[in-house]
Amino acid sequence: MRRQALVMLLMAPVVMPLAAQEVDATVLADQARGAALLAPFKGALKSALSEGLAAGPQAAIAVCQAQAPAIAERLSVDGVHMGRSSERLRNPKNSPPDWVVPILTQYARGDLAPVTVALSPTELGYVEPIHIAPPCLTCHGETLESSVQEALADRYPQDRATGYQLGQWRGVFWVRYPATTASSDKAQAKEP
Ligand code: HEC
Repeated sequence: MRRQALVMLLMAPVVMPLAAQEVDATVLADQARGAALLAPFKGALKSALSEGLAAGPQAAIAVCQAQAPAIAERLSVDGVHMGRSSERLRNPKNSPPDWVVPILTQYARGDLAPVTVALSPTELGYVEPIHIAPPCLTCHGETLESSVQEALADRYPQDRATGYQLGQWRGVFWVRYPATTASSDKAQAKEP
């Protein structure tokens, strides 16, 4: 696909047709909107995590378990829904929505670009990768303190989210949202 796109780009006339430019601009704007919707989610998760870690890793695990889904829910309004997922889940409740599954497969192959997809004429999806930073290793790394190991085993008997190294791809942030601001108002009215 990529190679094809590159060939097409090379063959394109120097002045791109206006329609193509418009499509590019729309895709970029959609992608930027998806990223902007995720920004408060990421920010709130980060502060919840560092507050938790200040009280020790076990407290932080409890905070993560309670806060992560609560934050996602609080920000999922006006036809917007968001979450985190992974190929190697800690909490099975974070299983990917169907439309995110092929993007996880793409990321697992090493193609880690953010992705915007049209889910319907009125709804878009946006996904971006999450990587392992130094603080993540406390609870997702290769060697865990035994107290952390125990706390995780207690809460997440099916935990597959350990053994990661610094910089490794860990999972995704995903968000689905109305295709236009106008449809956002409609979605808000329709939402049960
Ligand atoms: C204090 C321990 C702790 C630290 C530090 C931590 N996590 Fe987690 N992580 C958890 C717990 C607990 C869950 C399960 C949350 C839930 O129940 O929804 C989780 C879940 C996740 C998920 C959701 C998918 C899944 O497997 O359920 C992702 C993605 C994730 N963590 C990435 C990270 C990244 C990236 C970092 C570093 C910025 C990080 N975590 C740091 C404990 C931690």
